[in-house]
Order: sequence, then structure tokens, then C-alpha cells
Amino acid sequence: DVRRLVSHGTNLNQLGRREPTIYGTLTLQEINRRIEEKAASLGAAAQCLQFSHEGDLVDAIHKAQETADFIIINAAAYTHYSIALRDALASVTVPAIEVHLSNIHRREEFRHHSVLAAVVVGQICGFGVYSYLAAVEAAQSLWLEAKAKAAEDNE
Ligand code: DQA
Repeated sequence: DVRRLVSHGTNLNQLGRREPTIYGTLTLQEINRRIEEKAASLGAAAQCLQFSHEGDLVDAIHKAQETADFIIINAAAYTHYSIALRDALASVTVPAIEVHLSNIHRREEFRHHSVLAAVVVGQICGFGVYSYLAAVEAAQSLWLEAKAKAAEDNE
């Protein structure tokens, strides 16, 4: 199976009851189930983890070097200021996609900037659970493309 690490940051375990007009009413468990189903439908597997503490997210990113082909990360509030997470993503060769449920660019000014944006493949935000599902699809397509190219180069 193709392995994806989906890493959720702080406060995302509160989804379902947390500011539902912004984040929707799905719980994190329900979102994870949708992600796992999407990955399975594409012939991949997703491991979904949530961490409230910055250092735990850093550890998970390091571990992904051995255990994942792609990182999909919603770093939540850490997105906006964690240089540690940025450096962790830059320290691994596993490509990453940054995801947000809400459109951070149409919210408060302090959410407009992502310190992660420069070290990820791209950012998907504003589509609720579909931000994650689009990321799973993009990750799968990019991974297949890279695999085909590697096979071609070996010929
Ligand atoms: C979020 C957006 C962040 O600004 C916020 O701190 C979150 C969730 C999102 O998914 O929309 O916790 O990452």
C-alpha cells in the first residue's frame, strides 16, 4: 500500500463542536474516516494522527521519513508561526501538502501568512473536509507520476 501521513495540529480534536460556522460540524473521527475511504478508493492507505503539542508534530514529521510517501498536514494555529514545524518539513525529503478547512486568506489578518507555505508542494484551503480529500487525490497523482518517471529514468 502507498502510505500517506495525515497530520492534524492543535485544537483539531475539538472539531464538530469548535466554531461550527467556520469549521463545519464533522468531528475529527468523521473527517479521518472520509480521508481513509478516499485513500483506499485510490489504492493508497492513510494514517491519520492528531497532535496538540508542537514537538509531537515535529517528531511525527521526522518519523514520516521512514513511514510515509507523502505528508498531508493541517498544522492549525502552528501554521502561522511555527518555525520549528517549517524546519521539520524542510528536513525530510517526503513531500508535503498544507491543508486548511477554512479559507485562511479571507479570515483575520494573522491567519493570512503561513510559515509552512514555502516548504510544501502547495496549499489547499477553504473547502472543509474536501480540502483533505483533494490533497489525498493530488498526493496520489503526484506520487504515481514520480514513480512513472523513476521507472522511465531506469530504462
Ligand atoms: C485551520 C486554520 C487556522 O488558522 C486555525 O488556527 C486552525 C484551523 C483550518 O483548518 O482552517 O486551527 O488550520
